[in-house]
Amino acid sequence: MKEELKNIITKLERNNQKEIVNLITNVYSDEENEKIASQIERINIEKVMSLYNNATIIPFVDQSKIEHIKYTDLSSLKEEEFRAYKDLGEKIIKSNKYAVITMAGGQGTRLGHKGPKGTFKINTVNGEKYLFEVIVNSLQKANNKYGVVIPWYVMTSEDNNDQTISFLEEHNYFGYSKDKVKFFKQGQVPMVKTDGNIVVDKNKLIKEASDGNGSIYKSIKRSGLLEQMKADSIEWIFVGGVDNILLRIVDPVMVGLTIKENNMIASKTVAKRNPEEKAGVFCKLNGVPKVIEYTELPKAMAEEVDENGKLRYGDINILSHLFNINALEKLAEIDLPYHTAFKKSDYLNENGEVVEVSEPNAYKFESYIFDGFSFFDNMSILRVKREDEFAPIKNATGSDSPETAVALYDEYNKKYNK
Ligand code: UD1
Repeated sequence: MKEELKNIITKLERNNQKEIVNLITNVYSDEENEKIASQIERINIEKVMSLYNNATIIPFVDQSKIEHIKYTDLSSLKEEEFRAYKDLGEKIIKSNKYAVITMAGGQGTRLGHKGPKGTFKINTVNGEKYLFEVIVNSLQKANNKYGVVIPWYVMTSEDNNDQTISFLEEHNYFGYSKDKVKFFKQGQVPMVKTDGNIVVDKNKLIKEASDGNGSIYKSIKRSGLLEQMKADSIEWIFVGGVDNILLRIVDPVMVGLTIKENNMIASKTVAKRNPEEKAGVFCKLNGVPKVIEYTELPKAMAEEVDENGKLRYGDINILSHLFNINALEKLAEIDLPYHTAFKKSDYLNENGEVVEVSEPNAYKFESYIFDGFSFFDNMSILRVKREDEFAPIKNATGSDSPETAVALYDEYNKKYNK
């Protein structure tokens, strides 16, 4: 056995990876061993095992340390305030200091769509549109208004990068200037079974899964695009999701408000519909901004109401974020915490046989973009109207489905874009 392989086995044994050790020693061919060895060389197994060791620890939310986060309600801004923020933001946009990042690393599993979520097609009164096309249309509209071409960065994942690029190539970037569109890939973390063995896939390699949208900070830096943004004098970067068809990706008021409030980051929110709505809620924890994800919000807290009968944690995250370039640079150096999801994952057992599962059996580790907010003392929060800016497509049917989102989208366009 080659020296390198021996070292790899020692590393695996140190981390109790009995199944992979058996595959390497007794099942795999030399060629298969070479492939998995080169994968293991670049994976930090110790780090993966420390994530596994913390996987079942439910994040503790100390309610006594939680307070409301101050927000600005767009609809109650005075005319002169609105104007001042708008003018300030427009100056930034018109002087080519504004860029947009779309987080498109997710796979739309809940929606049941095969392929990158941005390639999902909706049927509006004005015809069919892909989710990526909806984003390009908003960018084009802003470009025409402000006389610029806003750089557009798309975060993809190992799973969907090639498909995303070829889709946009095939559709000629929906008319966008190709040289203004750049892609960068997010990272991955191996999945680990409940028994502590790292998942090996039927392709005989370790199964690595996307590491969540919090990957954005380090990934954009690693890609060299953050440096390029700086060289291009970009100052403010909007970061949004791929699946909200009313997402306002170019909003001078949001930029102006953030500058006036002397903040480096901002987010838009809408009032939470009901305690069950699957959305993260904003608050302050230990004096700094925080989003508690719906999967981690205790039921009692989700249902709590204030003295006016309104949900106490009622400002939801709509994935509409703004960052100063210095904030992105700072966050690229910070290790965000990981959250754990329990998923189903078929795997190869230690004898090389594929085991199909029907129940969750493995942990997936993800960091969240909004955990970066807690590294700032404050941020601007702009509460907007749901019917104007939030029409997400998450599920195939029912709430937040293509049907409900398109209805909101059509209604909005009837009202404002006649
Ligand atoms: C997300 C928010 C939630 C918010 C809700 C509103 C996070 C972690 N959660 O939840 O607080 O209330 O949207 O719609 O932000 N993505 C990647 N890479 C990944 C995972 C996701 O790029 O590894 C992207 C997706 O493509 C999508 C966005 O991040 O654009 C949100 O991902 P999704 O998994 O759909 O989050 P939700 O559970 O809907």
